Amino acid sequence: MSQAEEKVKEFARHTYGTWNRQNAWTNPLLIVDAEGVYFYDAKGKPYLDFSSQLMCSNLGHKNQAIIEAMIRQAEKLPYIAPGFANEASMAAVEALRSVMPEGLDKFFFSTSGTEANEAALKIVRQCKFPAYKVISRYHAYHGATIASVTFTGDTRRWFAERARCTVQGVRFAPDVYCYRCPFGLSYPGCNVQCARYLDYMIKEEGNVAAVLVEPVVGTNGRLVPPPEYYPIVRQICDENEVLLVADEVMSGWFRTGKAFALEHWGVVPDVMTTAKGCTGAYAPAGITVTNEKVARFFDEEFLVHGHTYAFHPLVMSAIPAAVAEYKKLMESGLPQRASKHLRRRLYELADRHECVGDVRGIGHFWGLELVKNRKTKEPFNVKADKFTSKELMTGKVAADAMQRGLYIAAWYDNLVIAPPLIITPEQIDEGIDILDKSLEIADRQAESTGVPASRTSDFFHQDD
Ligand SMILES: Cc1ncc(COP(=O)(O)O)c(C=O)c1O
Repeated sequence: MSQAEEKVKEFARHTYGTWNRQNAWTNPLLIVDAEGVYFYDAKGKPYLDFSSQLMCSNLGHKNQAIIEAMIRQAEKLPYIAPGFANEASMAAVEALRSVMPEGLDKFFFSTSGTEANEAALKIVRQCKFPAYKVISRYHAYHGATIASVTFTGDTRRWFAERARCTVQGVRFAPDVYCYRCPFGLSYPGCNVQCARYLDYMIKEEGNVAAVLVEPVVGTNGRLVPPPEYYPIVRQICDENEVLLVADEVMSGWFRTGKAFALEHWGVVPDVMTTAKGCTGAYAPAGITVTNEKVARFFDEEFLVHGHTYAFHPLVMSAIPAAVAEYKKLMESGLPQRASKHLRRRLYELADRHECVGDVRGIGHFWGLELVKNRKTKEPFNVKADKFTSKELMTGKVAADAMQRGLYIAAWYDNLVIAPPLIITPEQIDEGIDILDKSLEIADRQAESTGVPASRTSDFFHQDD
């Protein structure tokens, strides 16, 4: 073993790996460089980044404008306490106001998505006191800290619950998951029951302060709702005087083609959280933003929240630079062209591979749900497999792709195709060609059915 390899093992021995049994965190791959849509290991091998790391490096790697803005800030004022105003924060607020949905314009800044959601919970609970319950959905991830993991529907909450690391007052609504509709219905005949059921839930529960949604569900499936879904949800929230909170941590920052995903449906939440792409992942920022009505509540009310690193100038300096880069990129038309190409290539891929049960997504935010049998939709793995030591089919496909130089994030039942927005059609082809080979691993265990793959987000793409 080389000295460098020994150092990596030593590093792993002395650190806690995230979301892992620690005896599985022994030998992480050492990455030493990254540029554009590629990153490089210590041997210089390139990997095409098909998931923007954790769906956050939306502007690709080594964006000079953001790096330079941060260097300037580091030289001028790297830190000042949040009780002072600082120029970087002022510039960030100005830049954010130019991209935020109409009416969302009072901000709190932290350093991660989970903190953005923690702040949102305190805000809605203070605002709606004595109502305190939050309705979330099973296919949802909202973060690792105690409140955010309680809002989380996936297995990460199961484990947190066992360890008594959750808070009270969260309920789960049916998912907007057309491939496996919780009501066993199909759109449009379903009359969007998954949205309408919320009204029943809120009235039966009582004490509901807020409904919390990932506008396009991220890790848990890239679930694109039917067109009526969010307008109905907004109306139900209004009629029941419940706040609508949108977690745009992953779906924000042009990942879906618009600055924030809810804009596709003309709906504005009362509170929005975002993080990840807001700095292009060059600095850790979390943003909680509210509308005027929520803001006015706090005029005379003590906000029970704050952090040492709130409004951290070095972090804040990355925001206006990133906003400017996003605007430039969107004006170039490249992301719009590339996302259409990506969809076409993913549809072709799904047609060729029996293991793909459903291909769905929007913008640069796609999922391939893998199944053993397209007709019965029998999955290779179920939710509970995620935190056992059982080998997942999605993990095998992703590992094979990595060997071939393609990085794709994988969840228990789906692959996350979410490349940086700077990716070109040619680079998309390079990734698809690798995935084409890696999917054969799952094909070998899939049954031949003669049934085509579903495309459950097609209602969104009918006009293109
Ligand atoms: C929708 C959503 N919300 C919140 C979070 C938590 O963000 P962070 O990991 O920055 O705390 C994530 C992270 O993946 C996310 O996808």
